Amino acid sequence: MYGSSGFNNAYHQNNQQPPGEGEKRGGGRGRRGGRRSRNPHGLRVSEFQNPQNTNNDDQKEQKPPPPCTDFDKAYFHSYAHIGIHEEMIKDRVRTETYRAAIMQHQRFIEGKVVMDVGCGTGILSIFCAQAGAKRVYAVDASDIAVQANEVVKANNLAERVIVLHGRVELLFLQDVEIDEEVDVIVSEWMGYMLLYESMLGSVITARDRWLKRGGLILPCNATLYMAPITHPVRYQDSIEFWRNVYGIDMSAMLQLAKQCAFEEPCVETITGENVMTWPHVVKHLDCYTVQLHELESVSTTYKFQSMMRAPLHGFGFWFDVEFSGPENSPANNPTQFPIIGISSNNPVDGIPRKKRSNPNEALVLSTAPEDPPTHWQQTMIYFFDPIEVEQDQIIEGSLTLSQSKENRRFMNIHLKYTSGGRSYVKESVLN
Ligand SMILES: C[S@@+](CC[C@H](N)C(=O)[O-])C[C@H]1O[C@@H](n2cnc3c(N)ncnc32)[C@H](O)[C@@H]1O
Repeated sequence: MYGSSGFNNAYHQNNQQPPGEGEKRGGGRGRRGGRRSRNPHGLRVSEFQNPQNTNNDDQKEQKPPPPCTDFDKAYFHSYAHIGIHEEMIKDRVRTETYRAAIMQHQRFIEGKVVMDVGCGTGILSIFCAQAGAKRVYAVDASDIAVQANEVVKANNLAERVIVLHGRVELLFLQDVEIDEEVDVIVSEWMGYMLLYESMLGSVITARDRWLKRGGLILPCNATLYMAPITHPVRYQDSIEFWRNVYGIDMSAMLQLAKQCAFEEPCVETITGENVMTWPHVVKHLDCYTVQLHELESVSTTYKFQSMMRAPLHGFGFWFDVEFSGPENSPANNPTQFPIIGISSNNPVDGIPRKKRSNPNEALVLSTAPEDPPTHWQQTMIYFFDPIEVEQDQIIEGSLTLSQSKENRRFMNIHLKYTSGGRSYVKESVLN
């Protein structure tokens, strides 16, 4: 559905059956009772259990975690496949930026306790151990945790890296709890269009439960951008192509081609040349302060002034995340890092993306079209028909991204846009 791989975004799974109909895996065992259990692999395991069924006093102090739905189980099952981990690890921009960030923050990590939220194969946990962490809790609800544990043992790190197989939301209800605060949380939680997959909520849960006051979160903030896009080649390839196929007029296919190609968002790579003007900040998230409810729905209004005369084919979305120490967090220093243009008071609020007054030049992992490509690519929302836009013409409207009620990992997108006096609405789902 998205891109050339045919994968359904983060769900890089072969089994495309909807949850409830396919094979389910990903559950563990265990019930909290002040004990810790280990299976024959030396892996600490937990269970996708119903918290209502636990007999646990501590639970009264905790907000009950969201239930693990069939969609969640399918999600964790998808992460048991090696393909998705291979793709992420081979994304050198991603993996090397994380490694550089961990090494750059060695002074916060050496001799300290770290939690890796969603450890996958354990790669970030091992980077943290290499940076001198005293102990790393590597947590993953997917069965990939079994392999992570083997990788840890093979690298003689079993004494320092403790792999916990379970949902981070449930750890404190179980016998595989983490019974100490952590100095650092590291996580690679970003989905397509930043918020798809809704994994940031799990990082927030871990932060509020285990992070010491003044502790470090890597990455520390994230920003989602959007910009108007012109992409004549894409439109030609997918739509105009049908006008003349080996000399045959196949225009009868046009409507179907538009629906099939452009009804839903597309994850694909564009370049800086496709971008018609400076991007707009859809949402900036400070990982130290963001709250769960803020992720349920994100709304913005935008106003672009096109820098070129070109057909407008849709909007492109991308994000970046920053890695810097807790002392640089706006939560601790409200006067630092103002993002120029984040205010919606600007008459035209597309902004030069990197104009950020960051005296420390924080390490940035960017998925922008002008930067080296990553496995996230960019997310495109195409119109069925292009709009001819003159230089300096205004393109304005509003955008709402909301978690799907049915499956909070999917994202509903409501886009309104006006250009040249005509208004349009596009509804789509990133699933
Ligand atoms: C994007 S992958 C990152 C894997 C690894 N950290 C890396 O950088 O290669 C996210 C991982 O988080 C896990 N995950 C997502 N939500 C989780 C949760 N609530 N509790 C435990 N693991 C979770 C997934 O199973 C998946 O393996």
